[in-house]
Amino acid sequence: MTYLFNGFRTLTTAILLISAMSTNAYAMPKGDTSKGEIKTPSCRFCHGSNGIAPQPSYPNLAGQQQQYLYDAMLAYTNDMRIGPMATMMKGQLQNLNTQDLADIAAYYSAMK
Ligand code: HEC
Repeated sequence: MTYLFNGFRTLTTAILLISAMSTNAYAMPKGDTSKGEIKTPSCRFCHGSNGIAPQPSYPNLAGQQQQYLYDAMLAYTNDMRIGPMATMMKGQLQNLNTQDLADIAAYYSAMK
C-alpha cells in the first residue's frame, strides 16, 4: 500500500511539474482589436486610454506582446499570480471569457 502510494505521489509530482512548465503559453483564441477596445472601458482608469499607466506602480500595456498579455490575464483568473494587486486584477477580469481576453490582448499589443 505504501509502495503504491509513493508511486502515485511521484506520478502526481511529475504531472504537476509538467503542467507548471507548460503554463507560460496558453492556446489563445484569435483576438479582434476593435472588439478589445469596446471591452476595456474600465481598464483605462489604471492602464491609461493609450495603454500607458498614469501611476508608476501600475504596468503599461501598450505594445506588449499579445501572448504575454493573454497569459498574464489568464494567470490572474487561475490564481497563478498572487498578491493584493493580483487579487484586484482577478476581480477586474471576472466577467471576461478567454475570447474577451484575446481581444483585449490584441487591442493593447497593437498600441504603439
Ligand atoms: C484599479 C486599477 C486597475 C484596473 C481597473 C485594471 N488594472 Fe490591470 N493591473 C493593475 C495593476 C496594479 C497590475 C499589476 C498587478 C500585479 O501585481 O500583478 C495590473 C496588471 C495587469 C496586467 C498584467 C501586466 C503585466 O505586465 O504583466 C494586465 C494584462 C492587465 N492588468 C489588464 C487589465 C485589463 C484588461 C483591465 C480591465 C478589464 C484592467 N487591467 C483593469 C491595475 C488595474
